[in-house]
Amino acid sequence: MTERVLPGSTIGILGSGQLGRMLAQSARRMGYRVHTLSPGRDTPTGQIADREIVAEYDDLDAIAAFARGVDVVTFEFENVAYSAAESAARHAPVRPRGEVLHVTQNRLREKRALVAAGLPTAPFEAVNDLAELEQALDRVGRPAILKTAGFGYDGKGQARLDYDTVPAEAWAAIGAGPAVLEGFVDFQAEFSVVAARSVHGQMVDYGLIENRHANHILDVSIADMPLEPPQQKRAREIARTVLESLDVVGVLCVEFFLSRDGSLIVNELAPRPHNSGHLTIEGCLSSQFDQQLRAVCGLPLGDTQRLFPVAMANLLGNGWQQHTPDWASALRDPRVNLHLYGKAMPAPGRKMGHLTVRGDSRDDAAQRALSARASLAIK
Ligand SMILES: Nc1ncnc2c1ncn2[C@@H]1O[C@H](COP(=O)(O)OP(=O)(O)O)[C@@H](O)[C@H]1O
Ligand SMILES: [Mg+2]
Repeated sequence: MTERVLPGSTIGILGSGQLGRMLAQSARRMGYRVHTLSPGRDTPTGQIADREIVAEYDDLDAIAAFARGVDVVTFEFENVAYSAAESAARHAPVRPRGEVLHVTQNRLREKRALVAAGLPTAPFEAVNDLAELEQALDRVGRPAILKTAGFGYDGKGQARLDYDTVPAEAWAAIGAGPAVLEGFVDFQAEFSVVAARSVHGQMVDYGLIENRHANHILDVSIADMPLEPPQQKRAREIARTVLESLDVVGVLCVEFFLSRDGSLIVNELAPRPHNSGHLTIEGCLSSQFDQQLRAVCGLPLGDTQRLFPVAMANLLGNGWQQHTPDWASALRDPRVNLHLYGKAMPAPGRKMGHLTVRGDSRDDAAQRALSARASLAIK
């Protein structure tokens, strides 16, 4: 197997959502062909890809056939089974390697890996039954957040335990399965560092991106969070330590809490391009999707330089069934760029697209993004 996968070759993407779509857009621009595999048809990635293969992620024969038809396999959906990554790896390089998936798709394994690398996390305990939850609460204290160990995203599979919450209710709310109890972090802000690592260990990152959430879903991201230089340096070092310790080839995002006392706490990892990095498409010389492509193809990484103050606002499908968003109004500000993911069925909380907006300053960019979104008039 050669390390380099050159333009003209075929990239295989396991998963078919918007992350795969934007990776496929980068890949097509650089002259690659794209195959995607997922259980869906006419998917966000499939609409851009040369081939859309419809199969379940646990259909190992289909995964093997898929891998035989491409030059490198990557994934955009992190809950692809480890066995699928292994099965693909017999036929094509899989980047990042399946072990990275294995660690990051389980909150407990992920937190243990962070601790082993000497990195700061919220206090946590493994919980497998109600009795263990009660013991863990004694050690972690309240408030706390109970999270399913696997398959959580956009705040799904989480229950907060306040002073008056009955543990059995939280336990039932998350489905009474393997979980992690985490101490509640009274943070002043959240941010992420999106970083990339090449086949040869070269690393780049996009600095600190501020993230504001609404209802546990990312709402707005603003590039270049103005923390003190030592904090910035520390956050970027942490991201690099993660990529090195997991031997990642590709893009990985570290989500952070900035606690009230100014210390940095790692919330979670995403072993792929991240929603907070979408603003790099227009805002940086090489986007996070360009980097993912370059990294998994064994090419040198691109320049992450940010070109102007930039912010991103997510577009969720809330209210779209009742009203068509007023696209023309949102585009009245010529600095607004619209991204839609080609999803046929809008639903509340579903990520349908995003707006990326250039500002004169960070605050101006965020303000313009919010007003453009408000002018869609969907609520
Ligand atoms: N321990 C915690 N303390 C305080 N807030 C938390 C904690 N864990 C999660 N949250 C809030 O919930 C959001 C989603 O949680 P996260 O663990 O990142 O799950 P997901 O996989 O759904 O993104 C976080 O961005 C943060 O706003
Ligand atoms: Mg998260």
